[in-house]
Amino acid sequence: MASTNYAITALTSFTTAALAYALWKVAKIIAGPYRSSIRNLRGPPSVSWIRGSLRDIQAENAHVLFEDWPREHGPTYTFQNWLNSYALFTKDPKAVTHILNHGQIYAKGQMDAFFLGKIFGHGLLTVDGDQHRQQRRIMNPAFGPAQVRELADIFVEKAQQLRDVWNEQIAKSEASAPIEVTSGLSKATLDVIGLAGFNYAFNALDPSGKPNELNEAFTSMFQMLNDSSSINWLLMLKYALPILRIFPDQFGRETAAAQAVTRRVGMKLIQEKKAEVLKTASGGADSGNALRSRDLLTLLIKANMSLDVPENRRLTDEDVLAQVPTFLIAGHETTSFGTAFCLWALAQAQDAQQKLREELLSVETDRPTMEELNALPYLDAVVRETLRVHAPVRATGRRSTQDDILPLSEPVTDRNGRVHHQIKIDAGTDVTIPIQAMNVSTTIWGEDAAEFKPERWEKPSEAIQAIPGVWGNMMTFLGGSHACIGYRFALVEMKALLFVLVRAFVFELALPADQIIKQSAVVQRPYIKGKVEQGAQLPLLVKPYQRR
Ligand code: HEM
Repeated sequence: MASTNYAITALTSFTTAALAYALWKVAKIIAGPYRSSIRNLRGPPSVSWIRGSLRDIQAENAHVLFEDWPREHGPTYTFQNWLNSYALFTKDPKAVTHILNHGQIYAKGQMDAFFLGKIFGHGLLTVDGDQHRQQRRIMNPAFGPAQVRELADIFVEKAQQLRDVWNEQIAKSEASAPIEVTSGLSKATLDVIGLAGFNYAFNALDPSGKPNELNEAFTSMFQMLNDSSSINWLLMLKYALPILRIFPDQFGRETAAAQAVTRRVGMKLIQEKKAEVLKTASGGADSGNALRSRDLLTLLIKANMSLDVPENRRLTDEDVLAQVPTFLIAGHETTSFGTAFCLWALAQAQDAQQKLREELLSVETDRPTMEELNALPYLDAVVRETLRVHAPVRATGRRSTQDDILPLSEPVTDRNGRVHHQIKIDAGTDVTIPIQAMNVSTTIWGEDAAEFKPERWEKPSEAIQAIPGVWGNMMTFLGGSHACIGYRFALVEMKALLFVLVRAFVFELALPADQIIKQSAVVQRPYIKGKVEQGAQLPLLVKPYQRR
């Protein structure tokens, strides 16, 4: 009896505490917009209590957020987000530099981290703070120039395999039948990240290859992530109230089988690599093993097992496992769609394409090293210009973890006519950083900012020095503590693909350029206008280049 009374008292106290907590949360949400320090900045009106100003904005008309509203309200404006909370949009270089240089104040969005982490575990892409610093310190050396140099022949080999696949496709089809280039490029970059990332053969380009279990597991996990219907109210509640995460949900059940495969294959790879590193350390490695150890995962495991790293700073096997899908999420489609947009840009700029081909054909070898690829100035200009105009990641977001003052290079005038040279930011404010919009800002790049002109890199304007990007004075790979760790890898991979493909083929438009539109989930993809439901595609006329 006493124990029943005790249980009832405990349950009542727990329910009261939970209700009080929920009420406090709701009151905070309702009061939030009335107290926000940025509520008087200019910006679009709220049209919905749930989705604020963003109610009618879907992927296909995101230009409203990135182009129309900045034109109307200036480079720094406010809009209302979920439950009418005020969020900031800024493409002001000084403000963005401040945000990226103060990673301890402006953390990554927790919502993305929650959903990505739920499926793939907590790799470099989703962690923050100390955990991020610890992972990044161990992983940085694997992405250095000397390590990427070792991977260049994997990039070239896969580019050549794609060339052969397209040659066969052309031989089988009628003259000038278009080739949908994103599918082949996506297979090539998947094969690359498998081999270069963790010495795993996806064999995606191999037409006779059997379906690969890891590839299938990742595909189904990515589909869950891209399918907005799988993210339902229960998941949103779990995100908002962590206590609910103890209850199972359909999302978890549906990803369980795929997660089991990635865990089994990933852990096997990790154990093999650990054994390989130990064997090498004891002087037992043969030359074959030495060759295999150039992949990113082995290098990361080697760095993690190094005696220089104190025991408490080492990554756990779980942390290491989470990097396997991280390499894939971050390094696969970014590079394949970036290269697809490059071929599309070259198809619209035949002179640039021919100039590039002449430079590439002047190289004697057909298996160039990283140094040989990096020594080609026009190839470099074409890659820079593609990644500027067609940044694979359109935008990113941060959330302030404490109050802050944001400096501005261009003052803003608020709704009451007050001029601000800096903005007060409250803890918990979401900030949108528009990577693509900054890359084509006319203030920085001039009136022709949106045009694809590789020649602009012969004498870049002084104004681009203000951009805080880690590479090329552009935002494509971001800057600050979360800047892309794989940018050297991506650049050499893109150069290798272009080297092989532009030497072998002439690319022409299969559809008028205005029939191709870009849409972004995380990565920007090309779609045919009016056929978005068919998925990403980019048909081009691909003809073998006949050397004279
Ligand atoms: C053209 C290709 C690529 C582009 C445009 C790109 C772009 C980016 C951007 C914008 C971020 C920052 C995201 C944010 O913090 O919101 C990022 C982070 C990251 N990228 Fe890349 N990326 C590319 C290729 C790669 C490749 C090939 C790899 C790996 C092999 C890679 C691995 C990563 C990782 C691990 C992060 C997280 C870094 C951190 O938070 O410390 N990326 N990338």
